[in-house]
Amino acid sequence: MEFISNCTTDAISKAAKALKDGHLVAFPTETVYGLGADATNENAISQVYAVKGRPTDHPLIVHISSINQMSKWAIDIPDYAIKLARDFWPGPITLILKRSNLAKDFITGGQDNVGLRVPNQPLALALLAEFESLGGQGVAAPSANRFGAVSPTSASAVREEIGEYLISSDFILDQGICSIGIESTIVECLGEIPLILRPGAITAEMIENKVGIKMNKNLTNTSTKSSGLMKKHYSPKAQIEISNDPKPGYGFIGLASIFSEPNVIRLASPISLVEYSNQLYSALRLADNLLLKKIVVSIPEGDGLAWAIRDRVEKAAGNNDA
Ligand code: TXA
Ligand code: MG
Repeated sequence: MEFISNCTTDAISKAAKALKDGHLVAFPTETVYGLGADATNENAISQVYAVKGRPTDHPLIVHISSINQMSKWAIDIPDYAIKLARDFWPGPITLILKRSNLAKDFITGGQDNVGLRVPNQPLALALLAEFESLGGQGVAAPSANRFGAVSPTSASAVREEIGEYLISSDFILDQGICSIGIESTIVECLGEIPLILRPGAITAEMIENKVGIKMNKNLTNTSTKSSGLMKKHYSPKAQIEISNDPKPGYGFIGLASIFSEPNVIRLASPISLVEYSNQLYSALRLADNLLLKKIVVSIPEGDGLAWAIRDRVEKAAGNNDA
């Protein structure tokens, strides 16, 4: 695998060509790093599943360079979904739409719908545009971690997670730390009103206030299969206890305003929810690198980004009921 930190135009062309030739390219997005492959190439997609160790009935999100590519992949798009795409793309929101013929079973996990996203990250957008200029249609990219593990928010975390499974023709593109740090909001756009399948940085409140679209947050209301809906996911090796009380000798993740004794191993002390979501995964990864057995994690209350953080921590702890 080639690890490229200086992502020049030449490097981007090389990586786009590699994608077109059926190789894998891990690249940054504003949420987490993705493991990219040509979304129309069954063999390349099977490599993605193999590298991740992911069951093949879990669908992949197709990444496109702009809203103009949307109608290639989706049909019968509701008006509200077009409004969401116009208002929030490029950005951390994935829309689940009825699929076109281009979206084969090997991308959708055999479901009749497809997930689409335009990421808001300059290198990702340049790579997608270059790939499309070579005749590519879209890049499938799950988070670049092993199945069930913590998503990588830096290129070195990608190498740590999956480096040993990549081969010499594959790439990892490095462009620093992801600005958001947790995965995109997933919105199912199949019914009368949109349904949030996975909360993220684009919150229900933002959508309701800015776009005037009423959201459905009742996750039990869907037959859509999404690994974001699994009870255990995003997990470090260390055991997580959700609590506001840091414990001596254990790791601790929580807002800086929570006091801890010096013998607590403080893994992150974010001063805001934005900082919290940005540091959460690197803090979980740090716990494993320090070989900690147990981490106490304090979770914020409330809607919006607090919901997204709670969702990830509860899934990491393996006791999420939603
Ligand atoms: O922020 C993100 O969304 C990142 C970056 C790389 O874009 N990607 C990501 O992909 O988180 P992944 O595969 O790790 O998580 C995507 C989730 C999975 O739970 C998958 O089941 C769900 O999206 N998903 C994808 N396509 C779907 C579809 N057609 N129907 C329902 N769920 C879908
Ligand atoms: Mg993932």
